Amino acid sequence: MSEPLVLGIETSCDETGVALVRGYDLLVDAVASSVDEHARFGGIIPEIASRAHLEAMVPTIERALSTAGVTLADVDAVAVTAGPGLVGPLTIGAAAAKALAVGLGTPLYGVNHVIGHAVVDELVDGPFPERVLALVVSGGHSSLLRIDDTVQVTELGSTLDDAAGEAFDKVGRLLGLPYPGGPHIDRLAREGDPEAIRFPRGLTAPKDQAKHATDFSFSGLKTAVARWVEARQDAGEPVPLPDVAASFAAAVADVLTAKTIAACRREGVDTLVVGGGFSANSQLRDMAAQRCAEAGITLRIPPIRYCTDNGAMIAALGAAVVRRGLPPSPLDLPVDSTMPL
Ligand code: KG4
Ligand code: ZN
Repeated sequence: MSEPLVLGIETSCDETGVALVRGYDLLVDAVASSVDEHARFGGIIPEIASRAHLEAMVPTIERALSTAGVTLADVDAVAVTAGPGLVGPLTIGAAAAKALAVGLGTPLYGVNHVIGHAVVDELVDGPFPERVLALVVSGGHSSLLRIDDTVQVTELGSTLDDAAGEAFDKVGRLLGLPYPGGPHIDRLAREGDPEAIRFPRGLTAPKDQAKHATDFSFSGLKTAVARWVEARQDAGEPVPLPDVAASFAAAVADVLTAKTIAACRREGVDTLVVGGGFSANSQLRDMAAQRCAEAGITLRIPPIRYCTDNGAMIAALGAAVVRRGLPPSPLDLPVDSTMPL
């Protein structure tokens, strides 16, 4: 008998994602985004995102089904992001998933968005080994997880303030770059010297390491960049944007990779999965590849389209949960904007 067909729905932020997964096979990953509608506000407006999800939901489900050549009657289970994320957008995805589960008589699985960012890699690189470490970095989260048997998750640490992508977006704004600033800084950084300016590495001093070996902090770094730029402007000197971008990006990539690889060593884990929208960042990708190779750690980073928010990550996690026979969620499943792991 073939494995169940799992339909995954993701609406935690500004992407309406609908995907179909059977086993480890991704049949389709349909995404509609409202990012362009938020750009002029310099950040996500939850009300606009909610309305966009409402409009996009049924067409995206229909597009996914027709692309995969299946009908709703073929769906065996429905998985949906229950959190963390924006409560309005999450509610719309959950309402759609509940309606489908009730209408089709299938089980419903509410799953965690952050874990989905790591588990989506199973659709690309195959089943996880018994234990992996996962670095999930995006605009909303920067978390280091230990994942056993794909579904048992322990949070080893997280950011104490800004997420990595959020820090990039804030620095992008102060450098006058369009929203979201992350990809623009990435592009600029490739033309600059990463050693031009020595920006601080948050929580790496010995006293911080003792208490926060697996935590991150990027707000001090962001302030340091602001101060450096202001000082140049006050002195009437030009701001070398590529060097600032490269030095800032190097500081973020350095802290993320150094702390993560040290955690792999402490935990005795030899596979690292990197996921989340920020794992599109070239400075992080390059440094992680180099340092993992040196440390003998297998690095798994899915292609960029599976790093940003999408339905495949939710369908992949749903499929993993179904495969292990875990109990479905109740039909009054609540959404949780700050859902713990
Ligand atoms: O996972 P995602 O699509 O949405 C959230 O769950 O947050 O991540 C989006 C974040 C934004 O902060 C964006 O600026 C950042 O990831 N980002 C990047 C790059 N591509 C996306 N940051 C740095 N370099 C990139 N290439
Ligand atoms: Zn995300």
